[in-house]
Amino acid sequence: MAIDKLQDLFDRKAKIQSGGGEKAIEKQHAKGKNTARERMNMLFDESSFVELDMFVEHRGVNFGLDKKEAHADGVVAGYGKINGRLVYAYSQDFTVLGGSLGEMHANKIVKVLDNAMKMGAPVIGINDSGGARIQEAVDALSGYGKIFYKNTLASGVIPQISVIMGPCAGGAVYSPALTDFIFMVDKTSKMFITGPQVIQAVTGEIVSAEELGGGLTHNAKSGVAHYLTNSEEECFSEIRRLIDFLPSNNLEVAPTVPTNDDINRKNIELNEIIPANPNKPYEIKDVIKILADDGDFFEYQEKYAKNIVTGFIRINGKTIGVVANQPKILAGCLDINASDKAAKFVRTCDVFNVPILTLEDVPGFLPGTTQEFGGIIRHGAKLLYAYSEATVPLITVILRKAYGGSYLAMCSKELGADLVLAWPSAEVAVMGAKGAANIIFRRDIADSENPEETRKQKIAEYEDEFATPYKAAERGFVDDVIEPSTTRARLVDAFDMLSSKTVTRPNKKHGNIPL
Ligand code: HXC
Repeated sequence: MAIDKLQDLFDRKAKIQSGGGEKAIEKQHAKGKNTARERMNMLFDESSFVELDMFVEHRGVNFGLDKKEAHADGVVAGYGKINGRLVYAYSQDFTVLGGSLGEMHANKIVKVLDNAMKMGAPVIGINDSGGARIQEAVDALSGYGKIFYKNTLASGVIPQISVIMGPCAGGAVYSPALTDFIFMVDKTSKMFITGPQVIQAVTGEIVSAEELGGGLTHNAKSGVAHYLTNSEEECFSEIRRLIDFLPSNNLEVAPTVPTNDDINRKNIELNEIIPANPNKPYEIKDVIKILADDGDFFEYQEKYAKNIVTGFIRINGKTIGVVANQPKILAGCLDINASDKAAKFVRTCDVFNVPILTLEDVPGFLPGTTQEFGGIIRHGAKLLYAYSEATVPLITVILRKAYGGSYLAMCSKELGADLVLAWPSAEVAVMGAKGAANIIFRRDIADSENPEETRKQKIAEYEDEFATPYKAAERGFVDDVIEPSTTRARLVDAFDMLSSKTVTRPNKKHGNIPL
């Protein structure tokens, strides 16, 4: 081949890879952000990223766009390996027309999604964009529409991970919102439907971009995002960790990670972890870490609805999703946000064949007008629905309280648990002994000569009879009452026993989850 043809190829590629040019790259770095290609190299195993569609150019002709070059049309797309496994990705290049999305930019993203689905591989979208390319008008809007549609088709087929590493505003936020996991970086990520200026103009509210749509806001307040990291480096390392917990698609199971952690490990400290006083809290994350291989717990939505704890662990090398009430926050009550968080997590596990461990210590649904007016009935129903429709192995361990409707909602036998284990400290009842005694023995208490003494006596009577796991075990709602220290070994055995679980459900188009 003539040498000049090769040189021409090299020159073309080098030019495209320079993105928006030195000045724009400097500006990007000055904001504490990496460029689109630098990000790909940080995300993927060394030298494994392969860029495709580098030569794609926009076809816009309006408002001077025909005179503007937009290298790779402002988005770097391709595939690579994460810890040796195939993953697709795209990364918006803010140095090129502000990473704005036009027709061809969108086509590249759609192609990545199509290929990821065909190959059954996870897809990661790195968002850093001024939104719809204004000069391309309706073509840009159409591009977003196509991406939303593909995100929806890919939902439940391949893991979709969105990474916000700059602005993501207007309708653009709906692509991440349709995916399984959203990562944000503190201070440099922003997500909002309408920005601070529009809000001030329309409602008069004054709010900074950070307060409105920064990483902390969406992780702690709105629940839109699932992970918050302090830097881009940390973000990519967390994404790589997440990928290891997941299968590549809905027909596979997550890779087994061999462990030296003893599968028969006894944990005497678990025999002591539940305080003698039933109103005293303890740290549920301690229990989760004790049960996990090597104490490794990858928490999901750590900063949101802290009264419920969700995340991935491994037991005997296999990925397990954990849903656990947190007695330290709101006494572990279920409320609107906790129900939403847990329901989404349960469905995420179920679509990707991740068995679920539920650790239960729940006194009830949170009472109050805020909850009722906010629709706790509708939101709580999501959790019941999510567990009931899940077909992965489901194990519930009742540590302490399992009261009323919340007992059912935390994956009871009736909602599909394959195995329910209880610690001797478990109390499976309609409500706590005090409340129950005050209702059913109201007359006895009122008519007695010493009401307070009678009240105490009746509470103790109720506690003896119902504040135990044994009534539920008599009916078979609890399969076994176990010594807490043996929980890990029992789980190793039980998840192994359940690994061949198959469930057939009636044919339907799709269910109608309460939304
Ligand atoms: C075309 C855009 C652009 C856009 C930025 N640029 N956004 N070009 N369409 N949407 C260009 C800028 O003109 C500039 O070009 C370059 O990108 C870098 O932008 P700067 O403004 O210099 O960067 P910065 O100061 O960091 O500000 C970033 C920004 C701001 C906050 C994102 O650019 C901005 O407000 N952009 C417009 C955002 C917007 O309103 N988008 C439409 C949202 S509606 P030069 O040539 O000067 O370097 C939407 C609807 C989607 O997206 C609907 C889907 C259903």
